[in-house]
Amino acid sequence: MIILGIDTSCDDTCVALIKVNDKRPGFSILSNIISSQVKLHAKYGGVYPSLARREHQKNLPVVFKKATGKTNFSDIDLIGVTVGPGLEPCLYTGVNFTRDLALKLKRPLIPINHLEAHILINWLESSNILMPAVCLTVSGGHTVLFLMKKIGEYKLLGETRDDAAGECFDKVARILGLGYPGGPIISKEAEKYEIKNNKYKVRLPRPMIYTKDYDFSFSGLKTAVLYQYQKSKIKNKKYKQAMCEEVQQAIIDVLIHKTLKAAKDYGVQTIILGGGVAANKELREQLKRKIEKELPNVRYLMPAVRYCTDNGVMIASAAFLNKKEKIDLQQIKANANLKI
Ligand code: KG4
Ligand code: ZN
Repeated sequence: MIILGIDTSCDDTCVALIKVNDKRPGFSILSNIISSQVKLHAKYGGVYPSLARREHQKNLPVVFKKATGKTNFSDIDLIGVTVGPGLEPCLYTGVNFTRDLALKLKRPLIPINHLEAHILINWLESSNILMPAVCLTVSGGHTVLFLMKKIGEYKLLGETRDDAAGECFDKVARILGLGYPGGPIISKEAEKYEIKNNKYKVRLPRPMIYTKDYDFSFSGLKTAVLYQYQKSKIKNKKYKQAMCEEVQQAIIDVLIHKTLKAAKDYGVQTIILGGGVAANKELREQLKRKIEKELPNVRYLMPAVRYCTDNGVMIASAAFLNKKEKIDLQQIKANANLKI
């Protein structure tokens, strides 16, 4: 079975084709094209929705052609498209394009929740995943913790009350004048930090870490960085490295603490990570160590780094895992605030 996946929810135009192997479980990837708008948005330090939509409109036909160039359209069996959450004008570009395509090809179109797809990409390389699971989707737009009973059955446990974790990385990088997107840059700067050779000590809060709920808040953390940075007379490389290390650790501490709390409270068998921030090396490793130590019987799944940030493969995988024969195309609409 060949499945097409399309995502235009934020600043990447993504189209991928995957093939589900009949004999051996798992998928093979036929194409995975991502056209990034990073350079365009870098000067704003974040994504500018109307600009992003214009770029998607321009790029989507080109990306689609690149991704499907070697495939006969009649071989495509199923199509998936992100309907939300995301930036509404961007979502509509993908949804309208894909609806027309499904109509032309006479193939079923599956509406995909972007947050769910960031988690279901883990099915690409793993099988026999035991439920229930606690899932953490951490990206530029979302920080959501949810309980998964089976594919399609979720209970929202908590989410950020203000900025997402990725947004915090992006805004801090902007404050420190380091560029966009902030996550990979901060992670690189944090890696250069050496306690022994760095006389700068930065201490930041861990917002909401010990609250009884599963919610998050990262906007105060960004403000704490801003105030400390403005107050500091020294703004050299080493100081910025110390700041990057501390802000990264503060975000990781909160994410890990809440995820483990949820896993223990709900007695889950699996912990699943996904989303752009899941590409963070320290988060991946520290969460792994903590699970091994505190919940050794719980399985930990995270996507390969290249499948953490937005891509069409995750949409195609989610379409396969949620496939239905008949869905009324007119019912498929973009929903910027779609919940899990
Ligand atoms: O999932 P994604 O590609 O888009 C959304 O759905 O929002 O996530 C993008 C976010 C950005 O905020 C980016 O800074 C962050 O993921 N990110 C990282 C890393 N790579 C990307 N954050 C921390 N460490 C990284 N290595
Ligand atoms: Zn995403």
